[in-house]
Amino acid sequence: MAHNGFDVEFTPLDITSDRSIRAAIDELRERGERLDLLINNAGVLPDAPIGADPERSSVLHTDRRCLREALEANTLGPLMLIQAALPILNKGARIINLSSGMGQLTEMGGHYPAYRLSKCALNAVTRIYAAELGDRGITVNSVCPGWVRTDMGGPSAQRDVAEGVETTLWLATMENPPSGGFFRDKAAIPW
Ligand SMILES: NC(=O)c1ccc[n+]([C@@H]2O[C@H](COP(=O)([O-])OP(=O)(O)OC[C@H]3O[C@@H](n4cnc5c(N)ncnc54)[C@H](OP(=O)(O)O)[C@@H]3O)[C@@H](O)[C@H]2O)c1
Repeated sequence: MAHNGFDVEFTPLDITSDRSIRAAIDELRERGERLDLLINNAGVLPDAPIGADPERSSVLHTDRRCLREALEANTLGPLMLIQAALPILNKGARIINLSSGMGQLTEMGGHYPAYRLSKCALNAVTRIYAAELGDRGITVNSVCPGWVRTDMGGPSAQRDVAEGVETTLWLATMENPPSGGFFRDKAAIPW
């Protein structure tokens, strides 16, 4: 399908379902596709919308359902998708996990515990895969896009989507990318 001058094919995928992950990868394999780039962008913020009454996003009121929802989509989904995609990843392929400053241990604050835990754990997923895939020439990094005006970020966010994707595009296209790092604004940030 032609889209903004690019040839784009869409494949349905529910990142929380192993069956859906397998079906999506099988479809790509059957089409003879191989991947140079895998961006784990899908994410959820089940605690409460940004800007909601702080009580709603407090760790004092969270529950297992909310915590599991975030971990399934934001942590286990990328982990399982990378595992399933490995057979069709080219040598030198790049994996970019969309994380968040809210998952930074060095900056860890209160509220949004489900989201924070899931992104902190996603950063561990980045490190684990970076360690195991280095000898295949595959790089794995985490990116914080900043606070972006999307459904999740809301209308008060500081950045538009074009600004939000800059660091992801930088890692996706740079020569000799690093691996096992966490980046925002095209620079490494602490975990
Ligand atoms: N916006 C920010 O300020 C901000 C800041 C830091 C990090 N991030 C991260 O950046 C990434 C993109 O966020 P966003 O702001 O674009 O969020 P968004 O507006 O809420 O969009 C989330 C996207 O994830 C998809 N998604 C959710 N659950 C899914 C599932 N189970 N399977 C497949 N896709 C699923 C949604 O698809 P559907 O529309 O089909 O549901 C949607 O395309 C996320 O990982 C987020 O945590 C965002």
